[in-house]
Amino acid sequence: FHIDIDASETDKGVYPYYMLKEVDEQAIVARTLSQHYFDDDNQIQNIDPAIIEAIQSADRLYIVAAGTSYHAGLVGKRYFEQWTGKPTEVHISSEFAYDQPLLSDKPFFIFLSQSGETADSREVLDNVIKQGFGSLTIANVMNSTLTREADFALPLLAGPEIAVASTKAYTAQIIVEAILAHAAGNSTLDLKHELAKVAVEMQVIIDQKEVFKTIAESALRDRRSAFYIGRGLDAAVAVEAALKLKEISYVQTEGFAAGELKHGTISLIEEGTPVFALLTQTKTAGLVRGEIAQVTARGANAVIISSKALAKAGDAYVLPEVNELLMPLLTVIPAQLIAYYATLDRGLDVDRPRNLAKSVTVQ
Ligand code: G6P
Repeated sequence: FHIDIDASETDKGVYPYYMLKEVDEQAIVARTLSQHYFDDDNQIQNIDPAIIEAIQSADRLYIVAAGTSYHAGLVGKRYFEQWTGKPTEVHISSEFAYDQPLLSDKPFFIFLSQSGETADSREVLDNVIKQGFGSLTIANVMNSTLTREADFALPLLAGPEIAVASTKAYTAQIIVEAILAHAAGNSTLDLKHELAKVAVEMQVIIDQKEVFKTIAESALRDRRSAFYIGRGLDAAVAVEAALKLKEISYVQTEGFAAGELKHGTISLIEEGTPVFALLTQTKTAGLVRGEIAQVTARGANAVIISSKALAKAGDAYVLPEVNELLMPLLTVIPAQLIAYYATLDRGLDVDRPRNLAKSVTVQ
């Protein structure tokens, strides 16, 4: 399998920055992935049956990745556990490489990577191969080291991602994880149909990007710190949302599970501290509302991003409705755009933040 790259794909075109172009491309990538992995009869295609077999015969799945790809793993874990019934662990490659946890009897490894070249992940794959365990790499750059050396590889089909801050590779990873978990498991979800809805609603959010410019400017101008909170899948998105904001705008941002606020972090809340709350998961919505009230009572500027079903008057942005498990694919987009506009507002180079590389090939 190979991807043809024509000039238009690596050209910014009308966009001031690659990041904005890549955020905009996410609905197209969602459709491309659906067309690639589902046939016209809703059946899975282009996934080697041996991959499905390897997942089904494993007693535990280990997702290993770095940075944003690690964050995509935190979301994917839910799909693998829910749909395949396999306990799934998500690990940071730079930790796993030198501190390998006790493994199950029949582990199967899934590497997530945009570039396929991250040295920390390569180190883990080397160790996994030496120990004789099975492996799959899901990557954007096919024919990269991680895709060549793993037993199996699946493409993210996101097209070249140039901005250092990863956006479309993250949503593509979540989609491929969902498709793979669906293919290997027993979910009754009509995933192809649900992903088609996701693509439509992604575009709706992207078309409203001016809203996030206003939010970014009013909540983050002159601010040195911010928080993203949520529970469950929203906690998984919160860490990615925080990474997006901090890595390009240099606003020190923490993303974490909302229930942890009371165990320490709430002491950091001051008058006007921006606290972005992600609220898309029914089971915990009431608890998160309570946590929002606690930070607001201490002076925080709570910016609530909620799903239609859970929205209340005063929420800053109401996300369109898709299947709750797939909400991370929508929730992350406001966070990407808030990070983008906060960075522009500070006059910084969105695509090339200081000290960072697109692909980290040293350990
Ligand atoms: C670098 C990039 C991140 C990326 C991480 C993992 O730090 O700046 O955007 O998430 O590497 O890269 P990978 O290519 O393995 O996904």
